[in-house]
Amino acid sequence: MKVEKNKKIKLAIFASGSGSNAEAIMKYFLHHPQIKVALLLSNNAEAFALERAKRFHVPTRVFNKSQFRESDEVVRWLKESNITHLVLAGFLWLLPESLIQSFPERIVNIHPSLLPKFGGKGMYGMKVHQAVKEAGEVQIGITIHEVNAKYDDGKILLQASCEVVPTDTPETIAAKVNALEYEHFPKTIERWALSLNLSTLF
Ligand code: GRF
Repeated sequence: MKVEKNKKIKLAIFASGSGSNAEAIMKYFLHHPQIKVALLLSNNAEAFALERAKRFHVPTRVFNKSQFRESDEVVRWLKESNITHLVLAGFLWLLPESLIQSFPERIVNIHPSLLPKFGGKGMYGMKVHQAVKEAGEVQIGITIHEVNAKYDDGKILLQASCEVVPTDTPETIAAKVNALEYEHFPKTIERWALSLNLSTLF
């Protein structure tokens, strides 16, 4: 799908913590002809993701729980910035229904396991990698999926995996998973965003 120069697909990234995935995405789309990262939002004013965004000259916004859940402020910011797609990259809060309805089929999330394994409420970050180690899994991976009103649910766009060996620790498992994330998340976002029907967006 061709996108006119002045009508780029505009991504908003939501990140709660370090933001290493956000950085991989900002880097990937830095000179992209059709897609740009136009905003990074966080529920955490201390999130390193905000620093990373500044380095890429990506505008940032921080919000609290009541702004997010009890007002339409975040949706308003997104509309003001002409955001077309949302990317959840290490974002820990469940999205309110109003946000999901404002971006139908245009929200993507990454989860650091092969869903449905090790998914659901409370399964995030090192907790996932510890659970994988304790379960003695021989394979680990990532899931990139569209977002609906449930945790880690929604249409799966891509799963990628690699091996776990007995000497792996939760930390080395995390490193392997991160490598998969940086390799696949930006490319999957690109494919997904360009494949959706854009005629209704602009
Ligand atoms: C990633 O492993 C992601 O899959 C998960 O949270 C982690 C975020 O890391 N949802 P970072 O903030 O991108 O460094």
